[in-house]
Amino acid sequence: MRTHYCGEVTRENLDQEVTLCGWVNRRRDHGGVIFVDLRDRTGLVQVVFDPDRAQIFSQAEHIRNEYVLQVTAKVRARPEGTVNPELSTGEIEVLATELTVLNESETPPFQLDDDDVNEESRLRYRYVDLRRPIMQERMQMRVKVVQVLRAYLDQNGFLDIETPMLTKATPEGARDYLVPSRTQPGSFFALPQSPQIFKQLLMMSGMDRYYQIVRCFRDEDLRADRQPEFTQLDIETSFMDEEQIMVMMEGMMRDMFKTVLNVDLPNPFPRMPYAEAMHRYGSDKPDLRVPLELVDITDLMGAVEFKVFSGPANDDKGRVAVLRLPNGSELTRKEIDDYTKYVSNYGAKGLAYIKCNDIAQGREGLQSPILKFLPDDVVEKIIQRTEASNGDLLFFGADKATVVNDALGALRVKLGTDKNLLTGEWKPLWVVDFPMFEWDEKDNRWNALHHPFTSPNFESAQQLLDNPGESLSRAYDMVLNGTELGGGSVRIHKQDIQKAVFEVLAISEQEAENKFGFLLKALKYGCPPHAGIAFGLDRLIMLMTGSDSIRDVMAFPKTQTATCPLTDAPAEVSEHQLKELNIRLRAKVTE
Ligand code: AMO
Ligand code: AMP
Repeated sequence: MRTHYCGEVTRENLDQEVTLCGWVNRRRDHGGVIFVDLRDRTGLVQVVFDPDRAQIFSQAEHIRNEYVLQVTAKVRARPEGTVNPELSTGEIEVLATELTVLNESETPPFQLDDDDVNEESRLRYRYVDLRRPIMQERMQMRVKVVQVLRAYLDQNGFLDIETPMLTKATPEGARDYLVPSRTQPGSFFALPQSPQIFKQLLMMSGMDRYYQIVRCFRDEDLRADRQPEFTQLDIETSFMDEEQIMVMMEGMMRDMFKTVLNVDLPNPFPRMPYAEAMHRYGSDKPDLRVPLELVDITDLMGAVEFKVFSGPANDDKGRVAVLRLPNGSELTRKEIDDYTKYVSNYGAKGLAYIKCNDIAQGREGLQSPILKFLPDDVVEKIIQRTEASNGDLLFFGADKATVVNDALGALRVKLGTDKNLLTGEWKPLWVVDFPMFEWDEKDNRWNALHHPFTSPNFESAQQLLDNPGESLSRAYDMVLNGTELGGGSVRIHKQDIQKAVFEVLAISEQEAENKFGFLLKALKYGCPPHAGIAFGLDRLIMLMTGSDSIRDVMAFPKTQTATCPLTDAPAEVSEHQLKELNIRLRAKVTE
């Protein structure tokens, strides 16, 4: 039906006849001549309808936005002064000689060039929304990224193997999506939160190197970088340790960034222990583009009379820390109040500050509501330790360390963005040396930081049972610009260690048997040492396309409440279907 794509007609085609197909982006009537911008996935081209050809001219008078056209036309140079350097086709236009309206369109629900359309509407009319050039670009980038990743993995001997979607609960810690079984009344499949167990079984099956671009399902609270179904690039290898995996995976990312974006990522990626990331950045996924760091002053605050600071300083779970904002003394009262409100979302009870107007003058040169509570020598040490200079502002956080880290960690990124402090475009790193377990205060039990198949750095089961809080895991997260792109670990391949981990996690033998019995059994039949990782593909594309949300890089995402406005899923089903599945809904309460 066509000879060329719209966006690919250039000066090279001058005087040729072309046939194009696409959508009407816009029609303009100009003193007897009609211009139509015709759009397909490659871009726009300007089609001219001349009144000399009366029949197609009168047809053209009736076409509207989003009509689908087939146009045969002659390529000619645009007149002097009308060249559009923004368009790939900006030097030419095509003069229509034949026109077929392939389909009409009702007035679209929104203008394609309107950037302010609400998301509900964009998702309801996703097929219109996806016609927008920016969405087309994002989808095309996604395809390109996947091609390059696949090529790298193919070259390195990875086998693309599918794993079941109808399966048993997997251990990633979110709520499961369940699917009732018709043939086994009262039983349910769970959709996989990840292929974790199956990829480990594939290693036990001698497949050696596995990968899959695979959908995962997690029923959790949604955010900009979380969807109920999302895609992982999932990887597992036998006979490789964490060092080899990390080198191979960052090689893959460097290769891909170079090919797709022509960006050189650092070689090697920096590595940072978890404890250091929390200490310096208040986060286990630090955004290294922000040149601000938390400075610890817990040791200086034990004896001050200000209870807000001395309390946490004398609590072994407490922390007092400072974030220095260069030139921050220009902040207004209102701005400081807004930042105080901002950190309260992270549990902070306040946000004390000191403005350093003229440090040489001592206290006189400082301005702060808390100065009166702090002795001279402490103030001096704070100034020294934070390396404050005139004009800087110091923000203080004092509370449980988790609250201070969350609050100042988030404030750090917020200030970095608000004040345009970001340095460099791409800052990847590995976060390593995570604690194996985290003590859950509420439930009085240990939780696994990664999933329970992650290998501890302790080699004996007894050591682990004696000292669970001391053990680090052999896990690693890849972080890019403050987003956790991927995470993985060396796995447990010995049954006694796996049992010890379950014991620490207070998973009873019976429960372990019910949930993961098949994996425990497989560990007994010649399980190789193995390790792996999974990347969030949507998050990767979100960062690479500069999008704010992973919804913008998925063709058909769900809303924040996990619904699909396009199809109106989830939806009620018939009594008959429910009966077949042996499901009885409790009678609806009538108003
Ligand atoms: P994890 O749970 O860390 O590890 O997931 C790996 C990566 O998947 C992405 N991700 C998500 N993306 C969008 N929406 C979500 N709801 C969502 N949840 C996770 C993140 C994350 O880094 N089986 C292990 C991996 C392994 O150990 O090999 C796993 O799934 O980018
Ligand atoms: P107050 O004594 O409550 O008036 O607080 C004095 C200053 O300390 C104010 O600027 C508060 O914002 C700040 N502040 C209160 N609690 C905290 C806290 N937990 N961490 C940091 N600053 C705080």
